[in-house]
Amino acid sequence: MVRTDLSSDQLLSVIFDYMAKISGESRLAGVLVLMANMGREMIVADRCAVWLIDEANEELYTTVAHGVKEIRVPYGIGLVGHAIATGEPSIVDDAYADPRHHAENDRKTGYVTRSVVTIPFRNHDGRIIGAYQAVNKMTAAGKFTEKDLELLSLAASYAGKSLESVMLHQEIVDTQREIIATMGQIGESRSKETALHVRRVAEYSHVLALRLGLDPREADVLRTVSPMHDIGKVAIPDAVLNKPGKLTEAEFELIKSHTDIGYRLLKGSRRDLLGAAAIVAGQHHEKWDGSGYPNGLKGEEIHIFGRITAVADVFDALSTERVYKSAWPIERIERWFREERGRHFDPVVVDAFFDELPRLLELRESLKDEA
Ligand code: C2E
Ligand code: SIN
Ligand code: SIN
Ligand code: FE
Ligand code: FE
Repeated sequence: MVRTDLSSDQLLSVIFDYMAKISGESRLAGVLVLMANMGREMIVADRCAVWLIDEANEELYTTVAHGVKEIRVPYGIGLVGHAIATGEPSIVDDAYADPRHHAENDRKTGYVTRSVVTIPFRNHDGRIIGAYQAVNKMTAAGKFTEKDLELLSLAASYAGKSLESVMLHQEIVDTQREIIATMGQIGESRSKETALHVRRVAEYSHVLALRLGLDPREADVLRTVSPMHDIGKVAIPDAVLNKPGKLTEAEFELIKSHTDIGYRLLKGSRRDLLGAAAIVAGQHHEKWDGSGYPNGLKGEEIHIFGRITAVADVFDALSTERVYKSAWPIERIERWFREERGRHFDPVVVDAFFDELPRLLELRESLKDEA
């Protein structure tokens, strides 16, 4: 059936309708379907799909090419692979005359691709995260135009923010699964510190990050990953980790390796969140003046997540009982942080610590270890 391009009034109403629906949708699959439908209607295509990047498998995939289930292509393959690899949109009138076209999916489904428009789209920091692709223009001319390409870009930029936020959510869910799987493999930590310790460090880090003006999403990332800071301790022998008294120099050297061990355990992951966890594990014992370990990093060479976790971790270590020390009274802790401001700790993080101290003490109370 031959159709005509939309008038500008019709276009506006399509955009308004879909944007309202998209911003109310919290599932990734739902956003993708809505984006595909919006693209198809806007430029009068027969089919439209949103392609995303599967980094782990180095593939591009779409869950909602109209009329088709999931399709996958390797990186760089097809018009879509080309658009994502180069960042260049394309308009093709006859796919079979274009060497970049990947005809395999047509062969599988019996569909005949003729005209195709493909545009890559980016997240807010400019990284390409996928592509919009519309197939077979349904007007008499049967060809996509520059105007169609512009409209599809517009749709991508409108929907991009919603797409990114649901993808971020998906990332968190995936990561948490990955973390749980990793933890399961390593078995339960043999350190005597309780689960509440890691929760307190998470909450303290979050409060400090917000006070320091980090983006709330970044602060959430830190809250999620800071509990992993001591994961490397699973490799330290019990006799050393839970030794009641003072450590020998050799024993302390062994304990120090928990930073590198944690870093190496986590850094292999492709997921951004675990990358952040690797930083925290690797850097939480670095000191502002360069006298920390494992690498003697100094000042802003230490990632802000490492500088914040250092304060949260030591605050918790000092305010609770350890096998080798008793809990310090709050006056002594405050004196310690004042003395170490600009030595062990980043001065601005210490300032945030004092600004938020009442809140931190509340959290400490509500997450207290059982006697
Ligand atoms: P942790 O017990 O969680 O302590 C974390 C950090 O809090 C310490 O990092 C240190 O910066 C600070 N901290 C803890 N207790 C004290 C204290 O009594 N005085 C002062 N000034 N700071 C304190 P650090 O020193 O790199 O130690 C890393 C980890 O090594 C500790 O984690 C703990 O697991 C272990 N460790 C350190 N010293 C001893 C010890 O004497 N005996 C035993 N059994 N373990 C120790
Ligand atoms: C495909 O439908 O497999 C991709 C079409 C293309 O981008 O060439
Ligand atoms: C902990 O806070 O659980 C241990 C201290 C550390 O090594 O950071
Ligand atoms: Fe540690
Ligand atoms: Fe800790």
